[in-house]
Amino acid sequence: MKTPAELFDLRGRHALVTGGGTGLGRAFAAQLAAAGAAVTLAGRRTQPLEETAAALRATGATAHTLRLDVSDAESVNAAFAALHAPPDILVNNAGFAADSMLLDVGEEDWDKVFDANLKGAWLVARAAARSMIEQGIKGSVINIASVLGSAVQKGTAPYAAAKAGLIHLTRAMALEWARHGIRVNAIAPGYYYTDMAGEYLDSDSGKAMVKRIPQRRLGDPGELGGAVLLLASDASAYMTGSVVTVDGGLSLAVI
Ligand SMILES: NC(=O)c1ccc[n+]([C@@H]2O[C@H](COP(=O)([O-])OP(=O)(O)OC[C@H]3O[C@@H](n4cnc5c(N)ncnc54)[C@H](OP(=O)(O)O)[C@@H]3O)[C@@H](O)[C@H]2O)c1
Repeated sequence: MKTPAELFDLRGRHALVTGGGTGLGRAFAAQLAAAGAAVTLAGRRTQPLEETAAALRATGATAHTLRLDVSDAESVNAAFAALHAPPDILVNNAGFAADSMLLDVGEEDWDKVFDANLKGAWLVARAAARSMIEQGIKGSVINIASVLGSAVQKGTAPYAAAKAGLIHLTRAMALEWARHGIRVNAIAPGYYYTDMAGEYLDSDSGKAMVKRIPQRRLGDPGELGGAVLLLASDASAYMTGSVVTVDGGLSLAVI
């Protein structure tokens, strides 16, 4: 039997984190690096990627950056061709929300939300799984969904539908890739203050929502560390197709 330290040890592993330069992605990368993984931070903007990589290197971690647009298959394929090493762990974290009521949402916004959160997650996971299979790596894919993937809130329908799709895609990936030794799970975060969520959380309805969270506060991105370490490591060797909710109890109550 492995000790707890051995179960969560990620030394010798390489983790690719999309959207790893900011917000939750930055926290996931920091936690994986602290457990010993080399990390590659991927996204469209160079500056946040480089800043986060420099901060991680300052802690003694190995951190690389990679430009990629998850919603563009050519960009994803080119990025994987440029990777310095195949990933053992993928955190499919890049995401985007365009809040609008269903009667008003524009077709372009609808497409952008689905392209980043759902199609993008598939394109990157597919590239990672192909690489893992080719290299004989028994890898872990972690899709970052949302509590809005199972509950709905007015004004978030495209995002909620895309995250619901991502949860079901997680199950389909888990089913199809288990025979290759690849595990696929999802994390469903509640609310955390980041660039994406900040505007809503600063609004009156956002502040009212926080009062309805059973734990009466937002999450700190670092509090997702336990879930990502569990799913990335041998501690979850017999878990695949699961969704781990980290929301301070937000999704428990009916009203
Ligand atoms: N914050 C929350 O409360 C919360 C709750 C539930 C779920 N989530 C999920 O957590 C994930 C991270 O969100 P966050 O809150 O940390 O927001 P964030 O700071 O805005 O991070 C989103 C990241 O995704 C990257 N990204 C977006 N579109 C991309 C694309 N097409 N290609 C490559 N990278 C792309 C962005 O980098 P570039 O713009 O440089 O590409 C950015 O680094 C998202 O999937 C989000 O849905 C967040």
